Amino acid sequence: MTRAAVLAGLGAALPPHLVTNADLADVLATSDDWIRTRTGIATRYVIEPGSATSDLAVEAGQRALASADTHRVDLVVLATSTPDHPCPATAPAVAWRLGLGGVPAFDIAAVCSGFVYALAVAAGQIALGITQRALVIGADTFSTIIDPADRTTRAIFGDAAGAVVLRAGERDEPGALLGFDLGSDGEHADLITVPAGGSRERSTPHSVAAAKRYFTMQGRDVFYRAVVSMTESATSVLKQTNWSIDQVDRLVAHQANLRILHSVADQLGMDHDSVVVNLDRVGNTVAASIPLALADAVLGATLREGHRVVLSGFGGGLTWGSTALRWPDVAVAPFYPEYQEKQYGGKTK
Ligand code: COA
Repeated sequence: MTRAAVLAGLGAALPPHLVTNADLADVLATSDDWIRTRTGIATRYVIEPGSATSDLAVEAGQRALASADTHRVDLVVLATSTPDHPCPATAPAVAWRLGLGGVPAFDIAAVCSGFVYALAVAAGQIALGITQRALVIGADTFSTIIDPADRTTRAIFGDAAGAVVLRAGERDEPGALLGFDLGSDGEHADLITVPAGGSRERSTPHSVAAAKRYFTMQGRDVFYRAVVSMTESATSVLKQTNWSIDQVDRLVAHQANLRILHSVADQLGMDHDSVVVNLDRVGNTVAASIPLALADAVLGATLREGHRVVLSGFGGGLTWGSTALRWPDVAVAPFYPEYQEKQYGGKTK
């Protein structure tokens, strides 16, 4: 028997404010047709002023703990590039609000690969016997760092959180994380960046006025590298699991762009039908993207117990990462705001 981290719970959270492509076309030089054709995105959700990343992280964390039928974990890892504050990390506050005060809690900043990086760190702690049970959250609110006048990034990104509970178990159990591939390429760090506000280019009235606190991305170059890196990374994990591509039932890749997802599937030799897609409804939610797609796919019954699943992420840094598992039997609570309003008798948008 080999000790392994096993996925035991899953939850997600979206903020209440829905933004359609038509809403963006009302205020920017863009159109529903351009956004749908180039990205596959139709809607995204953004937080209201006064809310922060931790609010979504707590909501997703609560749902993941309930899904795992537990109140206790002994590690909290939060993947985010939009922490509540530049300092300190957001994870300790999230842990405390979840009633988990006292446990080790820290952030991981690997942008859209953050969730897979966080899974790898938590799984390593479990494999070493340091941790018995971990809460791994991916949460981002890119609407807080996007230039409202930038039609490209505003069309792509949405806010969300997704979370899983990992517990110590055996490698041959459903839900066991079966291998990891992680990598980075700092030579191209400038392709996805917020130029100012760190130690290199400090926050000054000038940098704020010059909009250097906003997120920037060189989309076309990122597109190409995302396809290559996620394909290579997923292939590396398949070697570790000894699965052939024909044995993979679902690819849950970072939800950046429908054309990227289909290109990765083509490179791997997978049917487009095997690719989990929810970016049409939520956009690119950065570190939340993969757990949110998993939760959506479980709720929609496109991801089912026993499926062989490959997870693959790519993001700023540049960074990438993949893992694989046989899907376990986990329950997921509804998380779309509209659905919950209906569910709990509230007013439907
Ligand atoms: N509406 C209308 N036009 C837009 C637009 C929008 N929302 N966003 C960009 N454009 C324009 C550009 O300004 C450009 O105009 P120009 O030719 O007059 O200069 C034109 O569309 C083509 O831009 P380009 O960037 O070449 O388009 P593209 O087909 O590469 O699509 C992205 C742009 C951003 C959608 C695409 O490159 C992409 O998805 N990249 C990956 C992004 C990503 O996944 N980032 C996160 C990775 S973790």
